[in-house]
Amino acid sequence: MKILITGGAGFIGSHVVRLFVNKYPEYQIFNLDALTYAGNLANLEDIEQKENYTFLKGDIVDAAYVDDIFAKYQFDAVIHLAAESHVDRSIVDPLAFVYTNVIGTVNLLNTARKYWQENLQKHLFYHVSTDEVYGTLGEDGLFTEETAYDPRSPYSASKASSDHFVRAYYHTYGLPVKLSNCSNNYGPNHFPEKLIPLAIHNIKEEKPVPVYGKGENVRDWLYVLDHARAIDDIFHKGEVGDTYNIGGVNEWRNIDLIELLCDTMDEKLGRPQGYSRKLITFVKDRAGHDLRYAIDSSKLMNNLGWKPSVTFEQGLSKTVDWYLENTEWLHNVTSGNYKAYYEQQYTDR
Ligand code: NAD
Ligand code: TYD
Repeated sequence: MKILITGGAGFIGSHVVRLFVNKYPEYQIFNLDALTYAGNLANLEDIEQKENYTFLKGDIVDAAYVDDIFAKYQFDAVIHLAAESHVDRSIVDPLAFVYTNVIGTVNLLNTARKYWQENLQKHLFYHVSTDEVYGTLGEDGLFTEETAYDPRSPYSASKASSDHFVRAYYHTYGLPVKLSNCSNNYGPNHFPEKLIPLAIHNIKEEKPVPVYGKGENVRDWLYVLDHARAIDDIFHKGEVGDTYNIGGVNEWRNIDLIELLCDTMDEKLGRPQGYSRKLITFVKDRAGHDLRYAIDSSKLMNNLGWKPSVTFEQGLSKTVDWYLENTEWLHNVTSGNYKAYYEQQYTDR
């Protein structure tokens, strides 16, 4: 089987690529990534020499390029993760999110349909999405697969749009699709603009840790490898045409999470108890900040037998250890060294 994984140089995509390359040596895995600021081939150094792995540098918005690679490699299936993924950036530049998340997704759908039309049923387009499409919860309740879409940020609006297009291609053209909507991920290789890696970096450097508003917003955190395992299960065992919600059953108010992180790092760095909490700095709230996300994953758990493999305390501890050990990775992504390298490396390709 030849599988095209898009966005494989990013945070979640790199864990999905590694899992598939190592677990399924009989598959050919193609990683298509534009290497935006969020894409980093250092995330995949350990597998780049594997025979069943090929990296393709390209933009999903570029329809001619996407057509070329489908013609050349004749993919059997797509797992689509490439996206602009940061809410704060979407507030500054919504159109970038429309291009990649909406137009890029429709390009992939069009091309898959074109190349797969002779025997559609032998193929699969798996679209990876977010729980943010459901909008925000109050104090109670969980997002289920039946919750009505109510996106409230440019990021979630663009992901909701892409989800609608994927379902439209299933209903209108019979394209075999699967979707999943996952809660907030954390773990190794997370770009330090998102809450947990940003806080780890700043605590390490003894810089202020910015908490938006009063820190009362709630997120449901899932270890990234458990998301990758869920994608593997859904890809192989999920029903065509179905959607699966993925979550950690692990809700945390931002302020409680940051306090736990400060204490965990104080212990690991041998700092006095309570030392890093002094770095917590309340800052202006995010515009339109969704109050609470929480996922009901019972469909995935009951039907496909998936469950998280680590507790939050274990996952957070592994994550902090990874950032403390991988100082070069962190230095490169925060200094922009890797961008200069890619510009030089790929200018003529
Ligand atoms: P990320 O920002 O870390 O990685 C995105 C990757 O896509 C990068 O490697 C980037 O170079 C690539 N990319 C961006 N634009 C591209 C384009 N036009 N063409 C080709 N490649 C392009 O994102 P992530 O956090 O790994 O998220 C991956 C997917 O999972 C996204 O679809 C996101 O919506 C979804 N998701 C993320 C989370 C989360 O907590 N991070 C939760 C649920 C769902
Ligand atoms: P983030 O990691 O950006 O994920 P998302 O917005 O997709 O949930 O943010 C997680 C939560 O942390 C969210 O409620 C916003 C908040 N936050 C801060 O308080 N400070 C920060 O510096 C960042 C980046 C986020």
